[in-house]
Amino acid sequence: MEQLKKEMENTISPVGCEAAASELGCNVSDIQVVGVDDGYSRNRRSLVGYADKWIFAKEVDHDLLPGDGVEEMRWLHKDFECTNALRQTVPEIVPEWEKLTANNHVLLMPSYRVDDGWLWSLPLKADDQSLYIQAVVDATKKLETVNFDQNAIDNLNLSPYFRDKLALDDGLVLILKNEDIRNQLQDKYTAMEQDDSLISLRHAIRKMRDLLKDEAALDDLSKKAASLINQPNNCFGHCDVRSDNITFNPLTGQVKFVDWNWASFATSGFGATEFLIDIARRGVNVEPWLDSLNIEMLAATVGFYAKRCLEDPLAPGNTLRDMQAQSAAVALDLYDMAVSANR
Ligand SMILES: Nc1ncnc2c1ncn2[C@@H]1O[C@H](COP(=O)(O)OP(=O)(O)O)[C@@H](O)[C@H]1O
Ligand SMILES: [Mg+2]
Repeated sequence: MEQLKKEMENTISPVGCEAAASELGCNVSDIQVVGVDDGYSRNRRSLVGYADKWIFAKEVDHDLLPGDGVEEMRWLHKDFECTNALRQTVPEIVPEWEKLTANNHVLLMPSYRVDDGWLWSLPLKADDQSLYIQAVVDATKKLETVNFDQNAIDNLNLSPYFRDKLALDDGLVLILKNEDIRNQLQDKYTAMEQDDSLISLRHAIRKMRDLLKDEAALDDLSKKAASLINQPNNCFGHCDVRSDNITFNPLTGQVKFVDWNWASFATSGFGATEFLIDIARRGVNVEPWLDSLNIEMLAATVGFYAKRCLEDPLAPGNTLRDMQAQSAAVALDLYDMAVSANR
């Protein structure tokens, strides 16, 4: 019920409906507008249908957003420009077309509807899960081979950002030096270890508790994390590779990435690593993909999220801090697995 309410609140406004009707070639009174779940931005979004044709619309709501939604408009614009550029080299990974309309407030694209067989989350069946993970990892590798000239890098705002954010993060050093933070984390992970809903992560949670007691191991991990700075940022990536930004068709094996506003150059394996952390956090065994992980990035991710998971929640009921605590533990577990496999 709550979910349905949230979906309906975020459907497109009359401006978005006009734009969608015009694309569908019909009167606005003839369209069907259906809400979508997921998504993290404050934009409005809907599937819009006329007869048996459906499109997807995402709309910046300038009435609702601070600063007239200028930032969100920049994101829609980047999405539009980026997917246009990628359609030349990797058309299979981006939507077939995108249109920016209504004064850059509305982004339209084909719909990839659940009713038409497209998934927007981890498939439930184990066989489909493997196909999905492989298809997404392959897509991240393909993207890493895409070249952009300096002009495009500047215009599309693809300058590297994530390597330094992770490598220069002081999370692990802070944990090592500050006993109070270590104790707070011990308490947090002790509570998580007893939480039955996290049973599939219990092994990773225990590892995190052991790490917090072991200064030498923390020191080693923090050195490994800092060495990320030596890796070149020579690989293009989507840089927000999570299930809610990916659609997958289990019948054809196709994947499409949406939501390109974080796209930028990063280190090799960045996309596969962020994705596999997210998948492992859901309790899936990602051992078959250990070679695709960036080990130094995993090390840095442990401190990056562990530090942040102690901050105040963004809002009552918001689960971001729990997700960060789980991601830190999972990154540590994957780090150990990848290091052992490399030996
Ligand atoms: N082309 C599409 N067809 C069908 N559903 C879509 C499409 N694009 C996005 N969605 C749905 O909307 C959600 C949010 O889309 P996204 O572009 O990631 O928005 P946000 O910027 O809010 O994160 C997706 O997780 C998916 O459920
Ligand atoms: Mg999104």
